[in-house]
Amino acid sequence: MDNKEQLHPCMIVIFGASGDLTKRKLIPALYDLYTRKQMPEHFAIVGVSRTAFSDDDFRQKLFDFKSDNYPDADQWKAFSNHIHYHAADSTKLADFGDMKARLKQLADEHKTGENMLFYLSMAPQFFEPTIQNISAAEMVTEGKRYCSLDRQSKPWQRIVVEKPFGSDPKSATHLNSVLANVFEETEIYRIDHYLGKELVQNMMVLRFANAIFEPIWNQSYIDHVQITASETVGVESRGAYYDGPTGGAMRDMIQSHLLQVLSVMAMEPPVSLKAEDIRTEKIKIFKAMRVPKYDDVPNIAVRGQYGDGQLGGKVIKSFRESEGVNPESQCDTYAAMKMYVDTWRWGGVPFYLRSGKAMAKKVTNIVLYFKPTPHILFRDMAKQRKANQIVINVQPDEGIRIRFEGKVPGHKLAVKDVELDFDYVKQWNAQPPDGYATLLYDVMLGDQTLFKHRDEIECAWHAVQPVLDYWQDNPQFDLPNYAAGTWGPSAADILMAQSNRYWHNPK
Ligand SMILES: NC(=O)c1ccc[n+]([C@@H]2O[C@H](COP(=O)([O-])OP(=O)(O)OC[C@H]3O[C@@H](n4cnc5c(N)ncnc54)[C@H](OP(=O)(O)O)[C@@H]3O)[C@@H](O)[C@H]2O)c1
Repeated sequence: MDNKEQLHPCMIVIFGASGDLTKRKLIPALYDLYTRKQMPEHFAIVGVSRTAFSDDDFRQKLFDFKSDNYPDADQWKAFSNHIHYHAADSTKLADFGDMKARLKQLADEHKTGENMLFYLSMAPQFFEPTIQNISAAEMVTEGKRYCSLDRQSKPWQRIVVEKPFGSDPKSATHLNSVLANVFEETEIYRIDHYLGKELVQNMMVLRFANAIFEPIWNQSYIDHVQITASETVGVESRGAYYDGPTGGAMRDMIQSHLLQVLSVMAMEPPVSLKAEDIRTEKIKIFKAMRVPKYDDVPNIAVRGQYGDGQLGGKVIKSFRESEGVNPESQCDTYAAMKMYVDTWRWGGVPFYLRSGKAMAKKVTNIVLYFKPTPHILFRDMAKQRKANQIVINVQPDEGIRIRFEGKVPGHKLAVKDVELDFDYVKQWNAQPPDGYATLLYDVMLGDQTLFKHRDEIECAWHAVQPVLDYWQDNPQFDLPNYAAGTWGPSAADILMAQSNRYWHNPK
Protein backbone atom coordinates (compact mmCIF):
# COMPACT_ATOMS: atom_id res chain seq x y z
CA MET A 1 0.00 0.00 0.00
CA ASP A 2 1.38 3.39 -0.92
CA ASN A 3 -0.14 6.18 1.11
CA LYS A 4 2.39 8.86 0.37
CA GLU A 5 -0.25 11.26 -0.83
CA GLN A 6 -1.91 11.37 2.57
CA LEU A 7 1.37 11.72 4.46
CA HIS A 8 2.67 15.23 4.88
CA PRO A 9 6.39 15.97 4.94
CA CYS A 10 7.58 15.95 8.54
CA MET A 11 10.48 15.96 10.91
CA ILE A 12 10.51 13.39 13.71
CA VAL A 13 12.34 14.62 16.80
CA ILE A 14 13.05 11.85 19.30
CA PHE A 15 13.91 13.06 22.81
CA GLY A 16 15.91 10.37 24.66
CA ALA A 17 17.32 8.99 21.38
CA SER A 18 20.44 7.42 22.90
CA GLY A 19 18.21 5.06 24.92
CA ASP A 20 16.92 1.54 24.52
CA LEU A 21 13.50 2.19 22.98
CA THR A 22 14.89 4.18 20.06
CA LYS A 23 17.33 1.52 18.89
CA ARG A 24 15.15 -1.46 19.76
CA LYS A 25 11.74 -0.30 18.52
CA LEU A 26 11.45 3.18 17.01
CA ILE A 27 14.18 3.07 14.36
CA PRO A 28 13.34 -0.53 13.29
CA ALA A 29 9.67 0.50 13.02
CA LEU A 30 10.50 3.58 10.92
CA TYR A 31 12.81 1.49 8.73
CA ASP A 32 10.01 -1.05 8.27
CA LEU A 33 7.68 1.76 7.13
CA TYR A 34 10.38 3.09 4.83
CA THR A 35 10.90 -0.26 3.11
CA ARG A 36 7.12 -0.65 2.70
CA LYS A 37 7.03 2.83 1.13
CA GLN A 38 4.92 4.14 3.98
CA MET A 39 7.08 7.11 4.95
CA PRO A 40 6.42 10.58 3.55
CA GLU A 41 8.47 11.52 0.51
CA HIS A 42 10.21 14.21 2.60
CA PHE A 43 11.15 13.28 6.14
CA ALA A 44 13.98 13.56 8.64
CA ILE A 45 14.57 11.84 11.98
CA VAL A 46 16.53 13.79 14.57
CA GLY A 47 17.69 12.08 17.75
CA VAL A 48 18.15 14.30 20.81
CA SER A 49 19.82 13.32 24.09
CA ARG A 50 22.74 14.53 26.16
CA THR A 51 25.50 12.14 25.06
CA ALA A 52 27.56 13.53 22.19
CA PHE A 53 27.43 11.63 18.87
CA SER A 54 28.13 12.67 15.31
CA ASP A 55 25.37 11.79 12.82
CA ASP A 56 27.51 8.94 11.52
CA ASP A 57 28.28 7.55 14.98
CA PHE A 58 24.60 7.65 15.87
CA ARG A 59 23.62 5.84 12.65
CA GLN A 60 26.30 3.23 13.26
CA LYS A 61 25.12 2.68 16.84
CA LEU A 62 21.56 2.10 15.61
CA PHE A 63 22.74 -0.25 12.88
CA ASP A 64 25.06 -2.28 15.13
CA PHE A 65 22.35 -2.86 17.71
CA LYS A 66 20.06 -4.65 15.28
CA SER A 67 22.06 -5.25 12.10
CA ASP A 68 19.98 -8.36 11.21
CA ASN A 69 17.05 -6.01 10.85
CA TYR A 70 18.78 -4.08 8.08
CA PRO A 71 19.95 -6.78 5.65
CA ASP A 72 19.86 -4.59 2.54
CA ALA A 73 22.89 -2.26 2.71
CA ASP A 74 21.53 0.12 0.04
CA GLN A 75 18.15 0.43 1.73
CA TRP A 76 19.77 1.10 5.09
CA LYS A 77 22.10 3.68 3.55
CA ALA A 78 19.22 5.48 1.86
CA PHE A 79 17.10 5.37 5.03
CA SER A 80 19.89 6.36 7.42
CA ASN A 81 20.68 9.44 5.34
CA HIS A 82 17.46 10.80 6.86
CA ILE A 83 18.75 10.23 10.43
CA HIS A 84 20.59 12.96 12.33
CA TYR A 85 21.62 13.57 15.90
CA HIS A 86 21.79 16.66 18.08
CA ALA A 87 23.21 16.57 21.62
CA ALA A 88 21.08 18.59 24.07
CA ASP A 89 19.56 18.43 27.52
CA SER A 90 15.83 18.81 26.94
CA THR A 91 15.28 19.96 30.52
CA LYS A 92 17.43 23.06 29.82
CA LEU A 93 15.76 25.82 27.84
CA ALA A 94 19.21 27.22 27.02
CA ASP A 95 19.87 24.13 24.85
CA PHE A 96 16.81 24.80 22.67
CA GLY A 97 18.30 27.78 20.81
CA ASP A 98 20.95 25.72 19.00
CA MET A 99 18.55 22.84 18.60
CA LYS A 100 15.96 25.00 16.86
CA ALA A 101 18.60 26.37 14.50
CA ARG A 102 19.78 22.84 13.66
CA LEU A 103 16.21 21.62 13.11
CA LYS A 104 15.53 24.57 10.79
CA GLN A 105 18.67 23.78 8.77
CA LEU A 106 17.68 20.08 8.55
CA ALA A 107 14.11 20.99 7.62
CA ASP A 108 15.46 23.00 4.68
CA GLU A 109 17.82 20.20 3.70
CA HIS A 110 15.10 17.52 3.76
CA LYS A 111 12.25 19.80 2.64
CA THR A 112 10.12 18.85 5.64
CA GLY A 113 8.60 22.29 6.23
CA GLU A 114 7.29 23.08 9.72
CA ASN A 115 5.45 19.82 10.44
CA MET A 116 7.02 18.32 13.49
CA LEU A 117 6.46 15.10 15.41
CA PHE A 118 7.99 15.18 18.91
CA TYR A 119 8.50 11.76 20.50
CA LEU A 120 9.15 11.66 24.27
CA SER A 121 11.21 8.48 24.59
CA MET A 122 12.70 9.21 27.97
CA ALA A 123 12.08 8.59 31.66
CA PRO A 124 8.77 10.14 32.79
CA GLN A 125 10.35 12.73 35.11
CA PHE A 126 11.66 14.48 32.00
CA PHE A 127 8.27 14.71 30.23
CA GLU A 128 7.06 17.89 31.93
CA PRO A 129 10.23 20.02 31.58
CA THR A 130 10.65 18.90 27.98
CA ILE A 131 7.07 19.81 27.07
CA GLN A 132 7.43 23.18 28.78
CA ASN A 133 10.68 23.90 26.93
CA ILE A 134 9.15 22.96 23.57
CA SER A 135 6.51 25.57 24.35
CA ALA A 136 8.90 28.21 25.71
CA ALA A 137 11.11 27.81 22.64
CA GLU A 138 8.02 28.52 20.51
CA MET A 139 8.24 25.30 18.58
CA VAL A 140 4.46 24.86 18.54
CA THR A 141 2.47 26.88 16.05
CA GLU A 142 -0.70 24.87 16.16
CA GLY A 143 -2.60 27.39 18.28
CA LYS A 144 -2.53 29.54 15.16
CA ARG A 145 -3.56 26.50 13.14
CA TYR A 146 -6.56 25.96 15.38
CA CYS A 147 -7.75 29.53 14.83
CA SER A 148 -7.18 29.32 11.11
CA LEU A 149 -10.05 29.15 8.66
CA ASP A 150 -8.05 26.65 6.64
CA ARG A 151 -6.53 24.33 9.23
CA GLN A 152 -5.34 21.74 6.76
CA SER A 153 -2.95 24.14 5.05
CA LYS A 154 -1.22 25.09 8.32
CA PRO A 155 1.74 23.14 9.66
CA TRP A 156 1.13 20.72 12.53
CA GLN A 157 3.12 19.76 15.58
CA ARG A 158 2.22 16.48 17.29
CA ILE A 159 3.60 14.91 20.41
CA VAL A 160 3.87 11.22 21.28
CA VAL A 161 4.10 10.45 24.99
CA GLU A 162 5.46 7.10 26.12
CA LYS A 163 4.32 5.18 29.14
CA PRO A 164 4.21 5.40 32.11
CA PHE A 165 1.63 8.18 31.96
CA GLY A 166 1.57 9.24 35.62
CA SER A 167 1.73 6.99 38.64
CA ASP A 168 -1.71 7.76 40.10
CA PRO A 169 -4.81 9.81 39.19
CA LYS A 170 -3.29 13.08 40.43
CA SER A 171 -0.01 12.84 38.52
CA ALA A 172 -1.80 11.68 35.34
CA THR A 173 -4.22 14.62 35.52
CA HIS A 174 -1.31 16.97 36.10
CA LEU A 175 0.60 15.65 33.06
CA ASN A 176 -2.57 15.97 30.96
CA SER A 177 -2.85 19.63 32.01
CA VAL A 178 0.80 20.29 31.18
CA LEU A 179 0.24 18.82 27.72
CA ALA A 180 -3.03 20.69 27.23
CA ASN A 181 -1.31 23.99 27.95
CA VAL A 182 0.93 23.44 24.93
CA PHE A 183 -0.84 21.09 22.51
CA GLU A 184 -4.41 20.58 21.39
CA GLU A 185 -5.89 17.23 22.42
CA THR A 186 -6.07 16.34 18.72
CA GLU A 187 -2.28 16.60 18.49
CA ILE A 188 -1.47 14.54 21.61
CA TYR A 189 -0.69 10.85 21.04
CA ARG A 190 -0.49 8.86 24.29
CA ILE A 191 0.99 5.64 23.06
CA ASP A 192 0.03 2.13 24.09
CA HIS A 193 1.83 -0.42 21.95
CA TYR A 194 -0.86 -2.99 22.80
CA LEU A 195 -3.30 -0.98 20.73
CA GLY A 196 -0.91 -1.26 17.79
CA LYS A 197 -1.16 -5.02 17.86
CA GLU A 198 -3.11 -6.47 14.98
CA LEU A 199 -5.47 -8.59 17.02
CA VAL A 200 -6.83 -5.67 19.00
CA GLN A 201 -7.94 -4.14 15.72
CA ASN A 202 -9.04 -7.55 14.50
CA MET A 203 -11.35 -7.65 17.47
CA MET A 204 -13.24 -4.68 16.09
CA VAL A 205 -13.54 -6.46 12.75
CA LEU A 206 -14.60 -9.69 14.45
CA ARG A 207 -17.30 -7.90 16.38
CA PHE A 208 -18.54 -5.31 13.95
CA ALA A 209 -18.05 -6.92 10.52
CA ASN A 210 -19.81 -10.18 11.43
CA ALA A 211 -23.43 -10.84 12.25
CA ILE A 212 -22.78 -14.03 14.21
CA PHE A 213 -20.84 -12.68 17.20
CA GLU A 214 -22.39 -9.37 18.17
CA PRO A 215 -25.85 -10.73 19.13
CA ILE A 216 -24.27 -12.96 21.81
CA TRP A 217 -21.66 -10.43 22.97
CA ASN A 218 -23.48 -9.42 26.15
CA GLN A 219 -24.59 -10.38 29.63
CA SER A 220 -27.39 -12.63 28.36
CA TYR A 221 -24.87 -15.12 26.98
CA ILE A 222 -21.47 -14.36 28.48
CA ASP A 223 -20.71 -15.69 31.94
CA HIS A 224 -17.40 -13.89 32.42
CA VAL A 225 -14.37 -12.57 30.55
CA GLN A 226 -10.68 -13.18 31.29
CA ILE A 227 -7.88 -10.96 30.03
CA THR A 228 -4.34 -12.24 30.61
CA ALA A 229 -0.91 -10.83 29.82
CA SER A 230 1.80 -13.15 31.16
CA GLU A 231 5.52 -13.09 30.54
CA THR A 232 8.02 -15.86 31.14
CA VAL A 233 10.91 -13.50 31.84
CA GLY A 234 11.48 -11.86 35.20
CA VAL A 235 12.53 -8.24 35.58
CA GLU A 236 16.07 -8.95 34.32
CA SER A 237 18.02 -5.65 34.31
CA ARG A 238 14.96 -3.45 34.96
CA GLY A 239 14.63 -4.29 38.66
CA ALA A 240 15.28 -0.74 39.90
CA TYR A 241 12.61 0.73 37.59
CA TYR A 242 10.11 -2.04 38.29
CA ASP A 243 10.51 -1.75 42.07
CA GLY A 244 9.99 2.04 41.80
CA PRO A 245 6.91 4.28 41.95
CA THR A 246 5.66 3.48 38.42
CA GLY A 247 6.48 -0.24 38.45
CA GLY A 248 4.51 -3.33 39.47
CA ALA A 249 2.06 -5.39 37.43
CA MET A 250 -1.02 -3.39 38.45
CA ARG A 251 0.44 -0.06 37.32
CA ASP A 252 2.68 -1.22 34.50
CA MET A 253 0.26 -3.64 32.82
CA ILE A 254 -3.32 -3.72 34.14
CA GLN A 255 -3.86 0.03 34.45
CA SER A 256 -2.23 0.80 31.12
CA HIS A 257 -2.59 -2.06 28.64
CA LEU A 258 -5.22 -4.47 29.90
CA LEU A 259 -7.89 -1.87 30.59
CA GLN A 260 -7.35 -0.64 27.03
CA VAL A 261 -7.84 -4.14 25.66
CA LEU A 262 -10.95 -4.44 27.82
CA SER A 263 -12.36 -1.19 26.45
CA VAL A 264 -12.06 -2.36 22.83
CA MET A 265 -13.53 -5.73 23.71
CA ALA A 266 -16.46 -4.21 25.60
CA MET A 267 -17.35 -1.01 23.71
CA GLU A 268 -20.58 -0.43 21.80
CA PRO A 269 -20.45 -0.29 17.99
CA PRO A 270 -19.14 3.16 17.02
CA VAL A 271 -21.19 5.22 14.55
CA SER A 272 -18.17 5.27 12.20
CA LEU A 273 -14.53 4.21 12.17
CA LYS A 274 -13.39 7.80 12.70
CA ALA A 275 -11.04 8.19 15.65
CA GLU A 276 -13.41 10.44 17.58
CA ASP A 277 -16.31 8.01 17.22
CA ILE A 278 -14.28 5.03 18.41
CA ARG A 279 -12.83 7.04 21.27
CA THR A 280 -16.30 8.18 22.30
CA GLU A 281 -17.34 4.55 22.75
CA LYS A 282 -14.14 3.58 24.55
CA ILE A 283 -14.47 6.50 26.95
CA LYS A 284 -18.00 5.34 27.86
CA ILE A 285 -16.55 1.98 28.91
CA PHE A 286 -13.84 3.65 30.98
CA LYS A 287 -16.46 5.81 32.68
CA ALA A 288 -18.57 2.72 33.41
CA MET A 289 -15.71 0.81 35.10
CA ARG A 290 -16.80 0.29 38.66
CA VAL A 291 -14.26 1.80 41.04
CA PRO A 292 -13.66 -0.81 43.77
CA LYS A 293 -14.29 0.04 47.40
CA TYR A 294 -11.14 0.18 49.51
CA ASP A 295 -12.45 -2.36 52.07
CA ASP A 296 -13.43 -4.76 49.30
CA VAL A 297 -9.93 -4.97 47.82
CA PRO A 298 -8.96 -8.30 49.49
CA ASN A 299 -12.06 -9.87 47.88
CA ILE A 300 -11.41 -8.65 44.35
CA ALA A 301 -7.65 -8.33 43.91
CA VAL A 302 -4.59 -10.51 44.40
CA ARG A 303 -0.97 -9.46 44.48
CA GLY A 304 1.94 -11.80 43.90
CA GLN A 305 5.69 -11.76 43.70
CA TYR A 306 7.87 -14.49 42.21
CA GLY A 307 10.42 -16.44 44.18
CA ASP A 308 13.11 -18.79 42.85
CA GLY A 309 11.98 -21.16 40.17
CA GLN A 310 12.69 -22.80 36.85
CA LEU A 311 11.36 -22.60 33.35
CA GLY A 312 12.42 -24.86 30.50
CA GLY A 313 15.43 -25.98 32.50
CA LYS A 314 16.51 -22.38 33.15
CA VAL A 315 16.83 -21.25 36.75
CA ILE A 316 15.14 -17.92 37.55
CA LYS A 317 16.27 -16.03 40.65
CA SER A 318 13.62 -14.52 42.89
CA PHE A 319 12.53 -10.92 42.23
CA ARG A 320 14.01 -9.76 45.53
CA GLU A 321 17.45 -11.00 44.45
CA SER A 322 17.37 -8.97 41.21
CA GLU A 323 19.73 -6.05 40.81
CA GLY A 324 18.30 -2.77 42.10
CA VAL A 325 15.43 -4.41 44.02
CA ASN A 326 14.83 -3.89 47.73
CA PRO A 327 15.34 -7.30 49.44
CA GLU A 328 12.06 -6.69 51.31
CA SER A 329 10.20 -5.31 48.31
CA GLN A 330 6.40 -5.40 48.34
CA CYS A 331 6.27 -4.88 44.58
CA ASP A 332 3.62 -6.88 42.69
CA THR A 333 5.26 -8.85 39.89
CA TYR A 334 1.82 -10.44 39.54
CA ALA A 335 -1.57 -8.79 39.90
CA ALA A 336 -5.08 -10.07 39.33
CA MET A 337 -8.31 -8.15 39.65
CA LYS A 338 -12.00 -8.78 39.22
CA MET A 339 -13.92 -5.81 37.91
CA TYR A 340 -17.29 -4.80 36.51
CA VAL A 341 -18.38 -2.53 33.71
CA ASP A 342 -21.69 -1.04 34.73
CA THR A 343 -23.53 -0.80 31.43
CA TRP A 344 -26.69 -2.31 30.02
CA ARG A 345 -24.63 -4.76 27.94
CA TRP A 346 -22.26 -5.90 30.70
CA GLY A 347 -24.32 -5.63 33.88
CA GLY A 348 -23.26 -8.43 36.30
CA VAL A 349 -20.53 -9.90 34.05
CA PRO A 350 -17.20 -10.10 35.90
CA PHE A 351 -14.02 -9.24 34.01
CA TYR A 352 -10.93 -10.97 35.44
CA LEU A 353 -7.67 -9.27 34.56
CA ARG A 354 -4.24 -10.67 35.41
CA SER A 355 -0.67 -10.01 34.49
CA GLY A 356 2.58 -11.42 35.76
CA LYS A 357 6.26 -11.85 35.21
CA ALA A 358 8.21 -15.13 35.43
CA MET A 359 5.10 -17.12 34.62
CA ALA A 360 4.65 -20.51 32.97
CA LYS A 361 3.92 -19.21 29.47
CA LYS A 362 4.12 -15.98 27.51
CA VAL A 363 0.66 -15.14 26.32
CA THR A 364 -1.71 -12.22 25.91
CA ASN A 365 -5.28 -13.26 25.33
CA ILE A 366 -8.92 -12.52 25.94
CA VAL A 367 -11.22 -15.42 26.77
CA LEU A 368 -14.99 -15.12 26.71
CA TYR A 369 -16.71 -17.86 28.71
CA PHE A 370 -20.32 -18.46 27.73
CA LYS A 371 -23.16 -19.44 30.00
CA PRO A 372 -24.40 -23.05 29.79
CA THR A 373 -27.42 -23.92 27.66
CA PRO A 374 -30.66 -23.38 29.61
CA HIS A 375 -31.33 -27.11 29.73
CA ILE A 376 -28.75 -29.93 29.61
CA LEU A 377 -29.90 -32.67 27.24
CA PHE A 378 -26.75 -34.76 27.07
CA ARG A 379 -25.79 -36.77 30.14
CA ASP A 380 -22.10 -36.65 29.18
CA MET A 381 -22.23 -32.90 29.27
CA ALA A 382 -23.85 -32.86 32.64
CA LYS A 383 -20.72 -34.52 34.04
CA GLN A 384 -18.16 -32.29 32.36
CA ARG A 385 -20.00 -29.11 31.39
CA LYS A 386 -17.20 -27.30 29.64
CA ALA A 387 -18.27 -23.80 28.77
CA ASN A 388 -18.23 -22.58 25.19
CA GLN A 389 -15.34 -20.18 24.75
CA ILE A 390 -14.03 -17.65 22.31
CA VAL A 391 -10.27 -17.22 22.81
CA ILE A 392 -8.69 -14.20 21.16
CA ASN A 393 -4.91 -14.59 21.15
CA VAL A 394 -3.22 -11.21 20.94
CA GLN A 395 0.31 -12.64 21.15
CA PRO A 396 2.07 -14.87 20.35
CA ASP A 397 0.23 -17.14 17.83
CA GLU A 398 -2.17 -14.35 16.88
CA GLY A 399 -5.54 -15.85 16.13
CA ILE A 400 -9.02 -16.69 17.30
CA ARG A 401 -10.21 -20.05 18.63
CA ILE A 402 -13.79 -21.08 19.28
CA ARG A 403 -14.45 -23.98 21.67
CA PHE A 404 -17.76 -25.76 21.57
CA GLU A 405 -19.21 -29.23 22.07
CA GLY A 406 -19.15 -31.80 19.26
CA LYS A 407 -20.40 -35.35 18.87
CA VAL A 408 -17.79 -38.09 19.21
CA PRO A 409 -18.03 -40.42 16.15
CA GLY A 410 -19.71 -43.77 16.82
CA HIS A 411 -23.04 -45.41 17.66
CA LYS A 412 -23.01 -44.18 21.22
CA LEU A 413 -24.08 -40.56 21.65
CA ALA A 414 -21.12 -38.95 23.32
CA VAL A 415 -20.18 -35.27 23.48
CA LYS A 416 -16.72 -33.77 23.72
CA ASP A 417 -15.27 -30.29 23.35
CA VAL A 418 -13.80 -29.39 19.94
CA GLU A 419 -12.06 -26.33 18.55
CA LEU A 420 -12.25 -24.15 15.46
CA ASP A 421 -9.01 -22.32 14.89
CA PHE A 422 -8.19 -19.17 12.94
CA ASP A 423 -4.42 -18.73 12.84
CA TYR A 424 -3.45 -15.28 11.64
CA VAL A 425 -0.07 -16.24 10.16
CA LYS A 426 -1.31 -19.38 8.38
CA GLN A 427 -4.41 -17.67 7.03
CA TRP A 428 -2.71 -14.64 5.53
CA ASN A 429 0.77 -16.10 5.15
CA ALA A 430 2.11 -12.93 6.75
CA GLN A 431 3.44 -11.85 10.11
CA PRO A 432 1.47 -9.02 11.73
CA PRO A 433 3.39 -5.73 11.57
CA ASP A 434 5.11 -4.50 14.69
CA GLY A 435 2.85 -2.36 16.89
CA TYR A 436 5.23 0.60 16.82
CA ALA A 437 5.24 0.72 13.00
CA THR A 438 1.44 0.84 12.94
CA LEU A 439 1.34 3.53 15.60
CA LEU A 440 4.06 5.76 14.14
CA TYR A 441 2.38 5.57 10.76
CA ASP A 442 -0.91 6.66 12.34
CA VAL A 443 0.74 9.63 14.09
CA MET A 444 2.15 10.81 10.77
CA LEU A 445 -1.29 10.42 9.20
CA GLY A 446 -2.93 12.25 12.11
CA ASP A 447 -5.13 9.28 13.05
CA GLN A 448 -5.70 9.05 16.82
CA THR A 449 -7.85 5.90 16.79
CA LEU A 450 -5.23 3.73 18.49
CA PHE A 451 -4.11 6.32 21.04
CA LYS A 452 -5.50 7.08 24.46
CA HIS A 453 -7.68 10.09 25.19
CA ARG A 454 -6.99 11.94 28.43
CA ASP A 455 -10.29 10.77 29.93
CA GLU A 456 -9.37 7.12 29.34
CA ILE A 457 -6.09 7.51 31.23
CA GLU A 458 -7.66 9.32 34.16
CA CYS A 459 -10.55 6.83 34.49
CA ALA A 460 -8.10 3.90 34.26
CA TRP A 461 -6.12 5.29 37.18
CA HIS A 462 -9.29 5.76 39.24
CA ALA A 463 -10.28 2.14 38.56
CA VAL A 464 -7.09 0.70 40.09
CA GLN A 465 -6.13 3.30 42.69
CA PRO A 466 -8.11 1.82 45.64
CA VAL A 467 -6.25 -1.47 45.08
CA LEU A 468 -2.88 0.31 45.04
CA ASP A 469 -3.81 2.27 48.16
CA TYR A 470 -4.89 -0.85 50.00
CA TRP A 471 -1.71 -2.68 49.05
CA GLN A 472 0.39 0.29 50.09
CA ASP A 473 -1.32 0.45 53.51
CA ASN A 474 -1.31 -3.31 54.09
CA PRO A 475 2.01 -5.03 53.48
CA GLN A 476 1.71 -8.68 52.58
CA PHE A 477 3.88 -11.01 54.66
CA ASP A 478 3.87 -14.15 52.53
CA LEU A 479 5.82 -12.65 49.60
CA PRO A 480 7.27 -14.15 47.47
CA ASN A 481 4.16 -16.26 47.01
CA TYR A 482 4.66 -17.99 43.67
CA ALA A 483 7.57 -19.86 42.17
CA ALA A 484 8.98 -18.48 38.93
CA GLY A 485 7.75 -20.57 36.00
CA THR A 486 4.25 -21.18 37.41
CA TRP A 487 0.84 -19.56 36.83
CA GLY A 488 0.99 -17.24 39.84
CA PRO A 489 -0.09 -17.35 43.49
CA SER A 490 -2.70 -19.82 44.75
CA ALA A 491 -4.73 -16.83 46.03
CA ALA A 492 -5.52 -16.02 42.39
CA ASP A 493 -6.95 -19.51 41.89
CA ILE A 494 -9.01 -19.04 45.03
CA LEU A 495 -10.34 -15.72 43.68
CA MET A 496 -11.77 -17.69 40.74
CA ALA A 497 -12.79 -20.79 42.70
CA GLN A 498 -15.00 -18.65 44.96
CA SER A 499 -17.33 -18.31 41.96
CA ASN A 500 -16.74 -21.85 40.60
CA ARG A 501 -14.50 -20.49 37.88
CA TYR A 502 -10.93 -21.24 36.88
CA TRP A 503 -8.21 -19.48 34.94
CA HIS A 504 -7.65 -20.32 31.32
CA ASN A 505 -3.99 -21.45 31.46
CA PRO A 506 -2.84 -22.42 27.97
CA LYS A 507 -0.51 -25.45 27.73
N1 LIG B 1 12.66 0.25 26.33
C1 LIG B 1 11.48 -0.27 26.11
O1 LIG B 1 11.33 -1.39 25.60
C2 LIG B 1 10.23 0.50 26.45
C3 LIG B 1 9.00 -0.13 26.24
C4 LIG B 1 7.84 0.60 26.50
C5 LIG B 1 7.94 1.89 26.95
N2 LIG B 1 9.15 2.47 27.17
C6 LIG B 1 9.21 3.86 27.64
O2 LIG B 1 9.95 4.61 26.70
C7 LIG B 1 10.70 5.63 27.35
C8 LIG B 1 12.17 5.47 27.01
O3 LIG B 1 12.60 4.20 27.45
P1 LIG B 1 14.09 3.71 27.25
O4 LIG B 1 14.09 2.28 27.66
O5 LIG B 1 14.59 4.07 25.91
O6 LIG B 1 14.84 4.57 28.35
P2 LIG B 1 16.39 4.79 28.48
O7 LIG B 1 17.15 3.63 27.91
O8 LIG B 1 16.63 5.19 29.89
O9 LIG B 1 16.68 6.03 27.51
C9 LIG B 1 16.26 7.29 27.74
C10 LIG B 1 17.33 8.24 27.24
O10 LIG B 1 16.96 9.53 27.65
C11 LIG B 1 18.12 10.31 27.63
N3 LIG B 1 17.94 11.44 28.53
C12 LIG B 1 17.88 11.42 29.88
N4 LIG B 1 17.75 12.67 30.35
C13 LIG B 1 17.73 13.48 29.27
C14 LIG B 1 17.62 14.88 29.10
N5 LIG B 1 17.50 15.67 30.16
N6 LIG B 1 17.62 15.38 27.86
C15 LIG B 1 17.73 14.58 26.78
N7 LIG B 1 17.85 13.24 26.88
C16 LIG B 1 17.85 12.70 28.11
C17 LIG B 1 19.24 9.39 28.10
O11 LIG B 1 20.37 9.60 27.27
P3 LIG B 1 21.55 10.63 27.65
O12 LIG B 1 22.12 10.16 28.94
O13 LIG B 1 22.45 10.50 26.47
O14 LIG B 1 20.92 11.97 27.73
C18 LIG B 1 18.69 7.99 27.84
O15 LIG B 1 19.49 7.26 26.94
C19 LIG B 1 10.37 5.48 28.84
O16 LIG B 1 9.31 6.34 29.15
C20 LIG B 1 9.92 4.03 28.96
O17 LIG B 1 9.06 3.83 30.06
C21 LIG B 1 10.31 1.80 26.91
